[in-house]
Amino acid sequence: MLPGGDSERRSDVTYLQLCYISTMRAPVGPAECEDILAVSRRNNGRDGITGLLVVGTTRFLQLLEGPPSAVRAAYARIKADPRHYAAVVVSERQVEERDCPDWAMGYVPGGADKRAELQALVERLAAPIANKNVRAQFTGFAALQAA
Ligand SMILES: Cc1cc2nc3c(=O)[nH]c(=O)nc-3n(C[C@H](O)[C@H](O)[C@H](O)COP(=O)(O)O)c2cc1C
Repeated sequence: MLPGGDSERRSDVTYLQLCYISTMRAPVGPAECEDILAVSRRNNGRDGITGLLVVGTTRFLQLLEGPPSAVRAAYARIKADPRHYAAVVVSERQVEERDCPDWAMGYVPGGADKRAELQALVERLAAPIANKNVRAQFTGFAALQAA
């Protein structure tokens, strides 16, 4: 038996992966989406957070992953943002590897004129998400937006 038992063999690095859905307070146009994205990428790069944001016609769906305290702090800020309300966490789990390591925040823009593209883009960007339930949140969300 190893000194310290199983705990010594466990990975030291675990990330929190949190997925939420929320409702826009008012329709969010392309310029506002770009603003959200610019701030997100700046802060997330600083805080070691990666993820994916899908902007639907009336809702946002976002995956945040990173050091647990950083993800919780980001989610608290995001939840308090008046541009949306009724944020509900749809899944929260500890992971040893990130699903979206390359994106400070991957982004699928919404808008009524982009419904058909949205589904194809979400399918592509959500493909690396290892957990099939989380992945299904994204593809299901996109299918609803396109309907
Ligand atoms: C749908 C949505 C997603 C957001 N995602 C992020 C995010 O991933 N990271 C982040 O720091 N801020 C995000 N924000 C912005 C935050 O609500 C908040 O405005 C920002 O973190 C404040 O940063 P600052 O104090 O540097 O200005 C998001 C806002 C909305 C409406």
